[in-house]
Parts: sequence; structure tokens; C-alpha cells
Amino acid sequence: MPKYRNSLNVDPDDKDPMISRRSFLALMGVGACLIGAGALAGASTLGFLYPNAMKIPPSVFSLGRPEEVLARDGKVFNPKQKVFIETMAGKVRVQTAVCTHLGCTVNMAPTGYACPCHGSTYDNHGMNTGGPAPLPLVYFDVFKGASGDIMVDKSKTTLDWNTAWYAPT
Ligand code: FES
Repeated sequence: MPKYRNSLNVDPDDKDPMISRRSFLALMGVGACLIGAGALAGASTLGFLYPNAMKIPPSVFSLGRPEEVLARDGKVFNPKQKVFIETMAGKVRVQTAVCTHLGCTVNMAPTGYACPCHGSTYDNHGMNTGGPAPLPLVYFDVFKGASGDIMVDKSKTTLDWNTAWYAPT
């Protein structure tokens, strides 16, 4: 007949429990450490196996296929990336829409751009012309990615609105 065990796992007939509370807690601690070490090793192994070619820096994004991007001329706002994408005669250039004062998103205006937050204004090339904005709106580097898409790298900037144009070949 099995011996009665109470909730503390203490044998009332025998003062020696099967496992002490201290041993149980020590085992739980060791178990938690092993699970943590296993998760860490697994995560680093998966990161090692994941190909570097799949990692695109967060500053780089795709505009899309050249035939789609260059299908029509004009300037459009991309709210996700907060940029203006301008296309003209088979060329494209990309300019930030982030105000250089405190980072609000500027709007297109008849004379260029206007910031709704504190009234900064920029001309059509993004040069700051009024308000508290201390700097012009930069253009980003545009290039053809390995997939054939037109890509933008926000970490590479220029203020030269002529060389900012990119024409895929
Ligand atoms: S954030 Fe644009 S003027 Fe202040």
C-alpha cells in the first residue's frame, strides 16, 4: 500500500521526505538555466544559418520594378517611407518628406513644400526658404538592386538635385 504523502511531500511515518524543498528549488533553477541556455544556443544557430543576403539594411527599401516606377511622370508621396518619389522621362529621384526642424512630415505646396507644424517652407528643390527649418530636404541614393528593383538607400544623401536623378539602364 502506497504511503500517504501530504502537500509538502512529507511522509508522516518517516521524517525523511523523498525530496526536500531546497533540492526541489535547486533542480528548478538548474532546469530554468538549461532551458535558457538552449534557447540562446538555438537562436544564435538559426541566426547563423539564415543567409546574410536576405538581410536588407533598414535604410534600404524597394520602389518596385523599373517599368512600374517609371510608367508615368510626376511626384507622389510615399507615407510609409516618408519620401517624395519624382519621376520624369525615364528617371527617378527620391527626396525626404521629413522637416529638418523637428521632424514633421512636410506637404507639397505651390512653391515647393510647407511644414504644417511650425511653418517652415522649402522651395521646389527642398532648399529651406522660411521658418525655423535649419537645413534643406535631402535626396536619397537610388540604384538598381540585385533583384532588378529600383532601390533607395536612405543612409546615402545628397543636396544636388541634378545628380539625384537615377535612370535605370
Ligand atoms: S517641424 Fe517643421 S517647422 Fe517645425
